[in-house]
Amino acid sequence: MTGTLYGVGVGPGDPELLTLKAARILRMAGAIAYFAKRGQAGNARTIVDGLLGNAEQLRLEYPFTVEVKVSDPDYHPRMAAFYDEAAGQVAARLDAGADVAVLCEGDPLFYGSYMYLHDRLAGRYRTEVVPGITAMSGCWSRLGRPMTRGDDVLAVVPGTLEAARLAERLALADAAVVMKAGRHLPKIRAALAAAGRLDEAVFVERGTMAEERILPLAEAGDSGAYFSLVLVPTRRRTV
Ligand SMILES: C[S@@+](CC[C@H](N)C(=O)[O-])C[C@H]1O[C@@H](n2cnc3c(N)ncnc32)[C@H](O)[C@@H]1O
Repeated sequence: MTGTLYGVGVGPGDPELLTLKAARILRMAGAIAYFAKRGQAGNARTIVDGLLGNAEQLRLEYPFTVEVKVSDPDYHPRMAAFYDEAAGQVAARLDAGADVAVLCEGDPLFYGSYMYLHDRLAGRYRTEVVPGITAMSGCWSRLGRPMTRGDDVLAVVPGTLEAARLAERLALADAAVVMKAGRHLPKIRAALAAAGRLDEAVFVERGTMAEERILPLAEAGDSGAYFSLVLVPTRRRTV
């Protein structure tokens, strides 16, 4: 019998923010797969460091990160080939009867790389997705300020959006989260200033991790770590 594919959310960084279900599946899986950038341990893998037993560990190393731009015509074909190859490696373990847990930082179905394996394998194998605490939830809990109240509308936008689209979305929102913020801080700052919300915006880098930094976006400089986001909590006051 073939094994089961598990997409396992491991939360935003603090290992205590893993669910009991995730911890159980990591203990029983035959193989643990995780994505990592060249020369790095892999953030999701680091989060679960103290929780792994003797399962096989399958490192899926990205062929490139920022060296090839998304606008480069080679980007999508090369990434697709990488995910095809990674899916093949996971499928080989599933075919051999092993349950495979694919680690994913935060929640697997929210901007997570696990999805590219899910797209390729979920129709062929028994699959279960284990939700994780998202980075934004971890970060706003650390900030300790209510994000949305009543009928507020929350916008979640990637900082990679083109400036005009980013400004348009942020201008409409009662509260906002800007993901993938680190390399786009000047653009995000300009969009929030245009929306009249810069004073309320907070930059969170490596939220819930040991090296966490939380400060007003206006004071955050022009670049931050990859693991960073911007929070704009609601203006609405309590009743
Ligand atoms: C590929 S997405 C992964 C999102 C993840 N699946 C989730 O559920 O939150 C990566 C982005 O998530 C955000 N992120 C992840 N972990 C973070 C953390 N600990 N602190 C701040 N931002 C984080 C950053 O914006 C980063 O660029």
